[in-house]
Amino acid sequence: MKNLAVYGMVIAWFAAVALAVIAFGLMQKPTLRPAQPVEFPHRIHAGDLGMQCTDCHLYAEKSIYAGLPGAELCMSCHEAVATDKPEVIKLTELYQTGKSVEWVRVYQSKPHVYFSHRRHVLSNVKCQECHGPVELMTTAQQVTDMGMGWCVQCHRRRGAPRECVTCHK
Ligand code: HEC
Ligand code: HEC
Ligand code: HEC
Ligand code: HEC
Ligand code: HEC
Repeated sequence: MKNLAVYGMVIAWFAAVALAVIAFGLMQKPTLRPAQPVEFPHRIHAGDLGMQCTDCHLYAEKSIYAGLPGAELCMSCHEAVATDKPEVIKLTELYQTGKSVEWVRVYQSKPHVYFSHRRHVLSNVKCQECHGPVELMTTAQQVTDMGMGWCVQCHRRRGAPRECVTCHK
């Protein structure tokens, strides 16, 4: 009997360790589509309604950043459109409290990397070449790791500069 109890404890111990390892592994996985404050459907706006990406990502042609829209931009339509839909009600409540919508970033370069939207967009690199078919997505989903190999591969293909200082200033 005593032996059985010891075996039991040993097995429970290993099970607990295995669970902890698995849970930690899951925690380390990057979130490909993070939960957002409003479940914004790209599919409806950039797909069905045919809005341009730069209608909402206002700075992509002008700046290093593409920019994320604030609630005022959304409310220019949703003051009147789909006002009965739960996600639009959530949006309206956020807007009325005057707080900014805290969109969770999907892509984020490291601080030692220099990247410019303007440069790429004006060189006719399409948003989708880097971000995938966003017009088919709900909220944005990560499609590449945007690691150094990914940048350099395209630069080689397109004859863009590959000196270290291009991307590391
Ligand atoms: C140019 C007008 C316009 C703008 C700007 C706009 N939307 Fe919409 N949105 C629509 C239309 C039209 C629909 C489809 C409504 C329907 O199917 O009944 C829609 C649908 C939605 C839905 C889905 C509702 C549902 O459950 O079917 C959500 C959520 C939403 N919009 C959020 C946003 C957010 C957040 C923004 C700002 C980032 C935004 N919209 C900007 C016009 C707009
Ligand atoms: C050459 C690849 C590339 C192209 C083309 C590109 N992006 Fe990006 N995008 C990135 C990278 C890399 C990041 C992360 C940059 C960072 O953290 O500063 C990013 C981040 C973003 C972000 C979040 C941060 C920000 O800048 O506001 C948005 C929104 C975005 N892109 C939208 C777009 C849209 C819309 C287009 C087309 C008009 C586009 N991107 C074209 C590579 C690209
Ligand atoms: C009606 C406004 C609207 C339009 C049009 C729109 N977007 Fe967005 N986009 C958003 C909002 C709101 C978010 C933040 C929620 C999310 O991550 O999906 C976002 C997020 C993104 C992100 C993730 C940024 C990051 O790193 O956090 C990318 C990439 C992006 N959009 C690309 C595009 C592309 C490409 C198009 C055109 C095919 C497009 N968007 C059209 C409103 C819009
Ligand atoms: C899908 C193709 C593609 C990807 C992916 C890409 N680039 Fe580019 N990049 C280009 C093109 C094309 C140019 C413009 C070359 C020209 O106009 O001479 C460029 C230009 C640049 C420039 C300006 C170079 C200069 O000094 O003239 C920088 C900086 C840059 N890219 C950084 C990056 C970084 C960082 C990444 C990854 C996060 C990246 N790029 C991913 C295609 C790409
Ligand atoms: C076209 C853009 C580009 C060029 C050219 C480039 N890098 Fe990078 N590099 C990146 C990006 C993007 C990252 C960040 C990768 C990540 O976030 O995982 C990076 C990361 C790094 C890191 C850190 C490793 C890490 O995992 O963060 C080092 C070191 C580095 N680069 C060195 C170099 C050297 C040396 C050169 C020249 C031979 C070079 N890079 C050229 C884009 C570039």
